Amino acid sequence: MTAESIAGPAIRVQGLEKSYGKLEVLRGVDFDVARGTIFALLGSNGSGKTTTVRILATLLKADAGTASVNGFDVATHPANARESISLTGQFAAVDEILSGRENLVLVAKLRHLKDPGAIADDLLDRFSLTGAGARRVSTYSGGMRRRLDIAMSLIGNSPVIFLDEPTAGLDPEARIEVWDAVKELAGNGTTVLLTTQYLDEAEQLADRIAILHQGRIIVNGTLTELKQLFPPTTVEYVEKQPTLEEIFLAIIGGDDESDATGTNN
Ligand SMILES: Nc1ncnc2c1ncn2[C@@H]1O[C@H](COP(=O)(O)OP(=O)(O)OP(=O)(O)O)[C@@H](O)[C@H]1O
Ligand SMILES: [Mg+2]
Repeated sequence: MTAESIAGPAIRVQGLEKSYGKLEVLRGVDFDVARGTIFALLGSNGSGKTTTVRILATLLKADAGTASVNGFDVATHPANARESISLTGQFAAVDEILSGRENLVLVAKLRHLKDPGAIADDLLDRFSLTGAGARRVSTYSGGMRRRLDIAMSLIGNSPVIFLDEPTAGLDPEARIEVWDAVKELAGNGTTVLLTTQYLDEAEQLADRIAILHQGRIIVNGTLTELKQLFPPTTVEYVEKQPTLEEIFLAIIGGDDESDATGTNN
């Protein structure tokens, strides 16, 4: 490990651009993620969240700009960057035919770790999957699958973890279980970048929240800072804090192309 990889933010993104043909998805994205923090990237469908994560995970090349993970530039040092990360994609990557435990053992073996069985048992325990460990994943609920998926991404103790919509499609109870797992991760010093469309998820988990909209980060701050951006409330609302959802809509709502104005009179 070089000195460069020890100092500085866990993730640094500067001027990132990416187009698919004529579709300009990222048009100059900038953000930093401090070590050991949870950073939530919010955005509507198609705003470029997965594209950003895929670039950071070295699965996709940017057209312009730079991105580094754990101090390693993803374009010039992709192998070092990859060693620093773990990715849980938008769609679960578990093998349905194997049991939960077998999935974990497989990943530990692929990562050439000692005692894969013990690693698997420890993770099953941490994610409340011990009882289901021997069962085929095809019998798991969505929440159990997601937890297993996240558990798999923890094998090898990567300093930086990407979670692309970790709770998409889960019921409220399963979401809370995943949130607890993510909080535990960050509590142990792992840096977490998660993407989500669920604003309450960002509100619950993130130290900082950035909103990706029309190819750029239009807001980046703590929840408290974001709340200060919310337009001053009227007398009727003095007792109510704006939810992140209201802040989000207030911030991105202004440039809705089909904006119908003056409907309140
Ligand atoms: N390989 C590709 N080829 C062409 N267009 C693509 C490709 N991948 C993504 N896109 C387009 O780029 C845009 C951004 O996609 P991306 O998956 O990054 O969005 P997202 O914010 O993750 O959306 P979602 O919330 O639906 O997951 C979308 O309009 C998508 O259709
Ligand atoms: Mg996506």
